[in-house]
Amino acid sequence: MRILSGIQPSGTLHIGNYFGAIKRIIESQNEGELFAFIASYHALTSVKDKEVLEKNIFDVAVNFLALGMDPEKSTFWAQHHVKEVLELYWLLSNHTSMGLLERAHSYKDKTSRGIQANHGLFSYPVLMAADILLFDSNIVPVGKDQIQHVEIARDIASSFNHSYKKELFVLPESKVDEVLATVPGTDGAKMSKSYGNTIDMFGTKKSIKKQVMKIVTDSKELDEVKEWENCNIYKLCELFMKDEELKELQVRYSTPGEGYGHFKLTLLEKINEYFAPYAEKRQHLIDNPNKVKEILDFGANKARKIASSKMEILRDSVGLL
Ligand code: ADP
Ligand code: TRP
Repeated sequence: MRILSGIQPSGTLHIGNYFGAIKRIIESQNEGELFAFIASYHALTSVKDKEVLEKNIFDVAVNFLALGMDPEKSTFWAQHHVKEVLELYWLLSNHTSMGLLERAHSYKDKTSRGIQANHGLFSYPVLMAADILLFDSNIVPVGKDQIQHVEIARDIASSFNHSYKKELFVLPESKVDEVLATVPGTDGAKMSKSYGNTIDMFGTKKSIKKQVMKIVTDSKELDEVKEWENCNIYKLCELFMKDEELKELQVRYSTPGEGYGHFKLTLLEKINEYFAPYAEKRQHLIDNPNKVKEILDFGANKARKIASSKMEILRDSVGLL
C-alpha cells in the first residue's frame, strides 16, 4: 500500500502542523510504503521571496528528518526536484473542468479573504492531483481542510481513465484522523500562521515561553476555583500529557491557590520536554546543510525513477510518445 503526503514550506512549523500533519506522516512509515515530499511548488502560491522560500524548504527538511523521517525506508524529497509532476499537471489540466476548481473551498476561502487570485492558486488542486496520481498513491493522510482536494484528484483520475478507456490511475483515498481535533492557537481559534496565534515546535526556550504566556484565559484570581473544560491551556496540555497527568492537572484547576501563570509554566515544561529529544539531531543537520542536500537528492532520485516510468506510460497512452 502506498501512502503519500506533502507539506508546504510556507512558514515556521507550529505545534498545530505537528499534531495535525507531521506526526501522522512520520508514523505512517510503519503502515505502508511512504512517499513524503516538501510541496515547494505549492508554496510559490504564497511565498514570493527567494531567501524565505529557500530557508523554509531547508527548515521543513531538517524538522522532518530530526523527527524521524527515515530516508532509506521511505521516499522523502523536495517537489521541485522531480519535474515530471509539472508535465502530469498539464495532462491533468486538460481533464479538469473549470466548475470542479471553482467549487474548491480552499480557493473560495482565500479569495473571499481578499487574496488576489492568480492561475497558480486556482489550479493548485490540479498540481496536488498530479503529486498524488504520479505515484499511484492509495492513501493520502491529510488534515480536514484537504479532504476536498483529494476528492478532486479522484475526480480527475476517473475522468482521465474514462477518456483513455484504461485504468491509468489508482483512485486515491484521503485518511483523516477523526480523533484529532483542530489544535487551538493561543487565542483559542484554530492555530494558524495566518492568525499570529502559533506556538512553534522548535523555537528558542525564550520565544516559546513568550508564545505560551500569550495564551488567552478568563480572569479568575489565584484563590478561585478554575474550570479546565474550556481552558485553552488545558486543551494544549491534552496534546502533551497522559491521562494520569491530566487528572492531576484537573485537581490543580479545582483547588484554589494557583493561577493560570502556573498552568502555563507546566505546559511550557511539557512542550520543551516533548521536543527536546529531537533537538540534537536537528542541530546536527542545521550544522551540516550538505548532508541535508544529499538526503533530498537521494530521495529525489528514488522518486524520479517511479515518476519517469509512469510518465512514459502516460505519454504513450495520450499519443505523445
Ligand atoms: P497554517 O494554517 O498555519 O497556514 P497549513 O495550512 O500550512 O498551516 O497546514 C499544514 C498542515 O498542518 C495541514 O495538513 C493542516 O491540516 C495541518 N494543520 C495546520 N494547522 C492545524 C491546526 N491548528 N490543527 C490541526 N492541524 C493543523
Ligand atoms: N495542499 C497540502 C497542504 O496545504 C500540501 C500538499 C501538496 C499535499 N500536495 C499534496 C498533501 C499531495 C497531500 C498530497 O497541506
